[in-house]
Amino acid sequence: MPFDRKIKIAPSILSADFANFGQEIRAIEDQGCDWVHVDVMDGHFVPNLTFGPAMCKAIRPHIRTVMDVHLMIAPVDPYIDAFAEAGVDIITAHVEAGPHIHRTLQAIRATGKKAGLAINPGTPADAVAPVMDLIDLVCVMTVNPGFGGQKFIHSQIDKIRSLRAMIGDRPIHIEIDGGITPETAPLVAAAGADVLVAGSGVFSGGSVAKPEVYGQNIAAIRKAAEAA
Ligand code: DX5
Ligand code: ZN
Repeated sequence: MPFDRKIKIAPSILSADFANFGQEIRAIEDQGCDWVHVDVMDGHFVPNLTFGPAMCKAIRPHIRTVMDVHLMIAPVDPYIDAFAEAGVDIITAHVEAGPHIHRTLQAIRATGKKAGLAINPGTPADAVAPVMDLIDLVCVMTVNPGFGGQKFIHSQIDKIRSLRAMIGDRPIHIEIDGGITPETAPLVAAAGADVLVAGSGVFSGGSVAKPEVYGQNIAAIRKAAEAA
């Protein structure tokens, strides 16, 4: 996975047809997405349940791009090896998920996978500074995690700008998760983001029978972000 700061679109399969992940993934990749974002929720850290390492392992062979797994679970540490063994590329944990995020990030890195740190809308950018040497990605939540289709929280844009300045030349992606549309994409791209997660923004209106809609949605978000 070579590092660059080009805009990358990462559809969240939280908004895909859960009975049809294989075909859904083929459709978004054929339609030009860069990464596939996988939202793991435990009904405890966030008020919703999705799926775990077994599902990640089952969909892994269908992903030709990058498998970006966003863990919205607490605790994290007991499950790291299972997600690594599932063959994912990036494991992102929340700073709010426990008292020992430094240990968690070390454990992710020890598996040989890329490590991401996610921060909720109520968490300041400064939370990232002490673990900057342990991460490959910071995920700025622009909604409160748990559900797709929520409204983008504009107050997070200053935080993205601060993180971009803090990161400097380090090879750390800035990923934005929540409420990304062609309207909000240029705001976060101008502030310094390079990976844009979009669930409803990519999947709405399309289906595996109408994959060209996914392609139009991906292209519209990318075009708006690149123009910023
Ligand atoms: C929210 C998830 C997001 C979500 C994004 O808890 O982490 O990845 O699916 O969905 P949209 O793009 O619909 O806000
Ligand atoms: Zn996510």
